[in-house]
Amino acid sequence: MKQITIPLPDDFHIHLRQGDALREYAKTASLQFGRVLAMPNTVPPLTTPEQLKKYREEILDATSATAPHFEVYLTFKLNKNYSENELTELRKQGAIAAKYYPFGVTTNSQDGIKNIEDLYPTISLLEKLNFVLCLHGEEPNAFCLDREKEFLKHLSKLAKEFPNLRIVLEHISSAEAAEAVLNLPATVAATITVHHLILTLDDIIGDSLMPHHFCKPLPKFPKDRDAVRAVAFSGNPKFFLGTDSAPHTKEKKECCCGAAGVYSAPVAIPILITEFENAGKLELLENFVAGFGADFYGLPRQTKKITYIKENQKIPETVDGSVPLYAGTEILYSPL
Ligand code: DOR
Ligand code: ZN
Repeated sequence: MKQITIPLPDDFHIHLRQGDALREYAKTASLQFGRVLAMPNTVPPLTTPEQLKKYREEILDATSATAPHFEVYLTFKLNKNYSENELTELRKQGAIAAKYYPFGVTTNSQDGIKNIEDLYPTISLLEKLNFVLCLHGEEPNAFCLDREKEFLKHLSKLAKEFPNLRIVLEHISSAEAAEAVLNLPATVAATITVHHLILTLDDIIGDSLMPHHFCKPLPKFPKDRDAVRAVAFSGNPKFFLGTDSAPHTKEKKECCCGAAGVYSAPVAIPILITEFENAGKLELLENFVAGFGADFYGLPRQTKKITYIKENQKIPETVDGSVPLYAGTEILYSPL
């Protein structure tokens, strides 16, 4: 294959950060994706309509000159119970999903929740108002490689208690999570990142320490990566792209207490083209990056297109002050 034209991809899970950095990260994202769902774990977290309004304006201001078509959808942090009126106001400012973080499991989750059932009153309202519930599915006190598996009991219970609520288990990283989502009703879907399709724990600590691959949930055993690959390449509409592109500055990654997150936005789509091509599943790429996610979220499918050509692209050592996935190496596709 020499070139491929696909709809401009959707990213249903991205971190755009805040302040000056947001301008750079948002601009980079807007050149790769037509639409994104931005995560709320800023400091302070996104929880009010006023904050959402300002956040959206900042993103659109940063991207309007270079990508005027770029659309941003928002999440708010489910770190307390919300009233129906509050949820309605959040919706008016572009929120389509609530994001649940358990206590302490990842970046800026010290305000996370210790018992998900404390939020059932709000989760019931999310179901009533047709929001999506996005879950960071890791159980706080479990052994690090078991945290996702241990969370799955909560997912099953949620699906049962709230049968009309659409739930996304974010960034799945284990065979057990892939299996659970497959077996739950159609209201339960999962996002898949580029890095969980390609990395295992070996790529973080197997040889030398690779801090730029360190993320949550941790990439796990080869069997887990292969299970994630199997569902991503299956054409099952429950599984779609959410990159969890999570930039931190080089200094915050290369230190004694490094932050979790892989900065994949600059390279996500060219890498996916190669991965789908190598798996012999290129015909399924379009639905994975620009079909199933939109369908699940009830958004119209993207009509704009983007073409990638088979031409090596050298990835810089840093992009926007952060070290991207595949930094300093060549990848096979470039945008036309
Ligand atoms: O590795 C991660 N980084 N996982 C998350 O869940 C959050 C993200 C971040 O915000 O840095
Ligand atoms: Zn995330």
